[in-house]
Amino acid sequence: MLVSNTTFRGLLVALAIGLLTTLQVQADEISRATLLSISCAGCHGTDGKSPGSIPVIGGKSSDFIATALRQFSSGERAGTVMGRHATGYTDEEIQLIADYFAGR
Ligand code: HEC
Repeated sequence: MLVSNTTFRGLLVALAIGLLTTLQVQADEISRATLLSISCAGCHGTDGKSPGSIPVIGGKSSDFIATALRQFSSGERAGTVMGRHATGYTDEEIQLIADYFAGR
């Protein structure tokens, strides 16, 4: 054998750790945007495709969604529920939510 058993095992362990770390990072990124947008689905529908009278937001541009959220939050844009719902998100979270729905 060209490589000793110990070296081979060491390589396998290193490979497994590398793989797990990669998977972990991807899982974290997916769940943050998804988790944040779950609260919107109750009204705007799964993936923002509302079946009722509440506006569809899935597939609208990220800019449109982010601007609307900031305007509802500041009171610049009037709404029945969005003024309350849009507050409490950081700028980074608004961007994550906007990108999430824009990609639906
Ligand atoms: C309780 C129900 C409810 C929830 C939860 C909710 N929305 Fe809304 N949303 C509405 C309603 C109703 C409107 C229409 C404006 C209003 O009356 O507030 C609206 C309007 C909007 C608009 C403007 C759409 C347009 O075409 O002008 C955007 C963008 C939006 N919501 C995004 C979101 C996002 C993102 C979330 C989650 C962070 C969310 N909403 C959570 C009910 C909701």
